[in-house]
Amino acid sequence: MSTDPLHTRLCEEYGCEVPIVAFAHTRDVITAVVNAGGIGVLGGLGKSTDTLRADIRWIKERVGDRPFGIDLVVPASFVEGNREDVEAMIPQGHRDFVAKLKQDNAIPDARDSSAGGVGGVLGVGLLERSRDQLEVLFEEEVPIFASGLGSPAFVVERAHSQGMKVWGLVGLPRQARRQIESGTDVIIAQGYDAGGHSGSVGTFTLVPEVVELASGTDTMVLAAGGVSGGRHLAAALAMGAVGVWTGTVWLATHESSTQMFLKERLVEAQAEDAYQSRATTGKPARWLRSKWTDAWKQEDAPEPLPMPLQPMLVNPVLADIQQAGMEDWITTPAGQSVVGIHEIKPAAQVVFDIAEEAQEMLEGLAGDPSTEA
Ligand SMILES: Cc1cc2nc3c(=O)[nH]c(=O)nc-3n(C[C@H](O)[C@H](O)[C@H](O)COP(=O)(O)O)c2cc1C
Repeated sequence: MSTDPLHTRLCEEYGCEVPIVAFAHTRDVITAVVNAGGIGVLGGLGKSTDTLRADIRWIKERVGDRPFGIDLVVPASFVEGNREDVEAMIPQGHRDFVAKLKQDNAIPDARDSSAGGVGGVLGVGLLERSRDQLEVLFEEEVPIFASGLGSPAFVVERAHSQGMKVWGLVGLPRQARRQIESGTDVIIAQGYDAGGHSGSVGTFTLVPEVVELASGTDTMVLAAGGVSGGRHLAAALAMGAVGVWTGTVWLATHESSTQMFLKERLVEAQAEDAYQSRATTGKPARWLRSKWTDAWKQEDAPEPLPMPLQPMLVNPVLADIQQAGMEDWITTPAGQSVVGIHEIKPAAQVVFDIAEEAQEMLEGLAGDPSTEA
């Protein structure tokens, strides 16, 4: 057993050198992180099965036997049905608000309104698409399946029989309890500060509680939400987690496909610029503030609809905004950890910086043995 405090059970079991897991939608970030000693998990949301398969093969060619995974969004409850019936559930008042928003702000019609970013992929058919994606993970023998939304309990037995590890992201202790009982290998305890879909319980409250629930079982816990530096990693280990799961910090890396003006905004942003909004997906998610998120906070703005109605309502206008290149209106999911981004750097450098700072913190806490009596 290693005496290096960063060599946790996660490193023992998965063969990584540092207990840092990167979630990103860009495959180049994943390979950079994995080859720097961490674990990379690629977001599969919105990818066709062909693209997903190609990405998996591309990553495998570059990382060999090193650990990586794919994250899919497989919600437990979801309004399904044929598109017309579901669309008919969108109230006229909401349609009028969006139409007025377009008119008042001179948002031009897009040439191709099917290209609407995250809003579009969360509409009708999500369950079916994500189940198809899951089959690709089995066929391509992906080492880790991470479930971003919804319990992965239904797939644990099959995954384990094929040597695949199952990870589940949770925002509440009761979700963690169910997943631990189902034999999920790693629980990602994601706090309120996190970028993307996020709950209402803070990371500092959630992580120790989930660690407690997992104690005495085989399930390990990763801390997520608000992590951008080594201090956070050291704190996560002190809370009993075996490492950290991170998202926002990779957006401002050289390898990330995030648009350059957004990377620059991430560098400048303060924690309060990453705020929760239901305006894009219908579920609370933390986004970098923009004219789009502000518009839905106006007094005359209606309450956003639940998923999948809200993404179906707003996807066309988000496509218009994107294609018109209206930078003030374009946004990205981002967490409060954005405050820890000070420059755009290579992803491997981010891994090294977090690990180095954590090492210093932990050595500082342990005290310098040469000065001890
Ligand atoms: C741009 C972005 C997109 C995200 N998309 C997903 C997703 O598709 N699936 C998922 O499970 N989590 C998603 N997340 C959440 C991350 O997995 C992670 O839990 C979160 O970023 C952790 O908090 P942090 O941003 O403070 O590091 C996303 C986060 C960001 C920043």
